[in-house]
Amino acid sequence: MLDILAGKYLLAGPASEELGRKICHKTGRELLESEFKVFPDGETKVTIRRKVSDCDVLIVQSTYPPVDRHLIQLFFAAHHLSQEGARVTAIIPYLAYSRQDKEFLPGEVVSIGVVAHLLRSAGVRRVVTVDIHSAEAMAHFSFPIFSVSAIPYLATYFKENKLVENPIVVAPDFGASKRSEVFSRLVGGQMVQLSKKRDRVTGEVKIASSKVSLEGRDAVIVDDIISTGGTVSEAASLLYKKGARNVIACCTHPLMVDGAEEKLRAAGVKNIVGTNTVASKYSFVDVSDAIVSHLKTIDE
Ligand code: R5P
Repeated sequence: MLDILAGKYLLAGPASEELGRKICHKTGRELLESEFKVFPDGETKVTIRRKVSDCDVLIVQSTYPPVDRHLIQLFFAAHHLSQEGARVTAIIPYLAYSRQDKEFLPGEVVSIGVVAHLLRSAGVRRVVTVDIHSAEAMAHFSFPIFSVSAIPYLATYFKENKLVENPIVVAPDFGASKRSEVFSRLVGGQMVQLSKKRDRVTGEVKIASSKVSLEGRDAVIVDDIISTGGTVSEAASLLYKKGARNVIACCTHPLMVDGAEEKLRAAGVKNIVGTNTVASKYSFVDVSDAIVSHLKTIDE
């Protein structure tokens, strides 16, 4: 049984030190001292000095870039703790590889299935994540996984900081529509969904024109991930063509790689708001309450 108040330890991995400490504090656990080293040849070494046995341990480790290093750190820590007899719950605020949830082109490895398998092999008994990319990605897990939503927390941030006035909330593609709809209900605005096509070979994004008029309106583009910024910058350019006054980008996971900020600024995006599932300068919204609230509901 996972009883977060009775459970003793929490390990905050290097990708989620701050968020891990917050969750540790809110669950009244003891922080497991750990050391994560990278050797000059790129190998990873993990040391956890305290012995744990027969108890529930939470590991908080996100898997934003460097993705594979953060994953290996998680596998090593989970394996070590489970070998000692701990029942490991992995809190993976941003779960990498979730976008590779099917074979889009012939021969492609369904990476999230491999990640799920490796987590299980490392002794992870349960995964808690935030705004996983798709339900299909979750279907690859043969053990419990739950995705909590950061959308209510993002919406509260927008309201409290009065970032927009009677906005149009924009889902840049079909996958973003559910999250955008919830966001629009919470901030009180109208929602529109655009239609996106990504070239599966080059990664280039094209967003089809939309009939909606945005004359003088604020627009918030809501997505789960901003990675290279291709999706949001394409959407923002279209929204300005349709008369938008201000365009703001809102996402759960601000990966912001490969010149994403420059792309977004060049497309006129005024603000970029993300959460601390990824430690970054865009992480204005804290997801620790969302995660802890879910942990408190687990009873098995
Ligand atoms: C894909 O469907 C996701 O929901 C995001 O739209 C995508 O990952 C964003 O990537 P990028 O910023 O590189 O366009």
